[in-house]
Amino acid sequence: QIIDWDAEAAEKGGYPHFVIKEINEQPDALRRALTGRIRDGQLHLPEMERIEHAGLLNGIQRIIVVACGTSYHVGMLAKYAIEKWARIPVEAITAAEFRYSDPIVGPETLCIAITQSGETADTLVGIRQAREHGAPVIAITNIVSSAITRLADAVLYLQAGPEIGVVATKSFVSSVAVLYLLGLYLGQERGRINPEQMQEFLEALEILPEQIQQILDHANSEHDTIEPLARRMADLKSIMFIGRGVGYPTALEGALKLKEISYIHAEGFPAGELKHGSIALLDPETPLVGIATASHVYEKVLSNIQEVRARDAHVIVVATAGDERIKQHANDIMYVPATLEMFSPLLASVPLQLFAYHVAVARNCNVDQPRNLAKSVTVE
Ligand code: AGP
Repeated sequence: QIIDWDAEAAEKGGYPHFVIKEINEQPDALRRALTGRIRDGQLHLPEMERIEHAGLLNGIQRIIVVACGTSYHVGMLAKYAIEKWARIPVEAITAAEFRYSDPIVGPETLCIAITQSGETADTLVGIRQAREHGAPVIAITNIVSSAITRLADAVLYLQAGPEIGVVATKSFVSSVAVLYLLGLYLGQERGRINPEQMQEFLEALEILPEQIQQILDHANSEHDTIEPLARRMADLKSIMFIGRGVGYPTALEGALKLKEISYIHAEGFPAGELKHGSIALLDPETPLVGIATASHVYEKVLSNIQEVRARDAHVIVVATAGDERIKQHANDIMYVPATLEMFSPLLASVPLQLFAYHVAVARNCNVDQPRNLAKSVTVE
């Protein structure tokens, strides 16, 4: 008997596409990002030893995070986390803007480059420029010995494993986790996080892989609501995503995933900004996705969602499990497990990835290799 063996199908491990395989690999990817870095209830980042010993972090006054696309969204989340935990001012800037902005950088500015491929030209050029001005550099990447590692004083690897799909999925979740570990490290070094707080953070981080698994198990079961919703939404012309605080970069990432693989026009906004113009775009044909997980701005997000519903827009909400109140405000709900507010993007992004994937499949798009896109953009 001749066995019909297809190497590519085998690599997909039984999944129809790399993207859905990689979405399902996120619990393991996240575990690998945390492995060895959380031990006995303590944070360990040995990669930081050399830069610390060289004294490069002693005089740091501010941080600039340089990245593109999804990695830029990670950078936006890093701003919230590092400012909160370490009280160091952080600016996140897209690399192509950074390099032409005549940036004010020097030895007192720590530059963090986030690039899962390690080969994104805009990020490399920007970081090279920052180095020339004497800025210390930390690189966050998934690829060992990639170009960015040669420009950095310290390298933190994602350890996410290969990501073949052009869209970043597991590398997003891993990058956020590694950036958060770095934020906690800086907070600890600055004496801003006490041991009890650190323990609470690390415990919450350690259960995230299991919580992502719960989302995936539900999505892979007969109780899944995301794929049926995606099928209903497959003929959309346009969709908007809103969030506040860490929900804002989550909204941007949800919009980017959808437009990249389904070619539907999608835009993300800070929820409070809608009424300053963009709300004019909303009509019954333009659904809205609201990131309304538990947070200190939950009530504010709800009132923004109400403004939208008053215009008859179809509202889809990502909410925290157990939130019954949200039912009055949403047509469809994607629930995620409860976690600390700062960590909520790691969970909320998963149903948004699944939504984008299923919409794209329903539209017969090439989900693994969307048109006009490359896995790493090595030209400026
Ligand atoms: C993400 O889904 C995109 N493919 C893209 O935005 C990507 O994140 C960006 O090009 C940056 O890539 P990098 O992390 O390899 O630098």
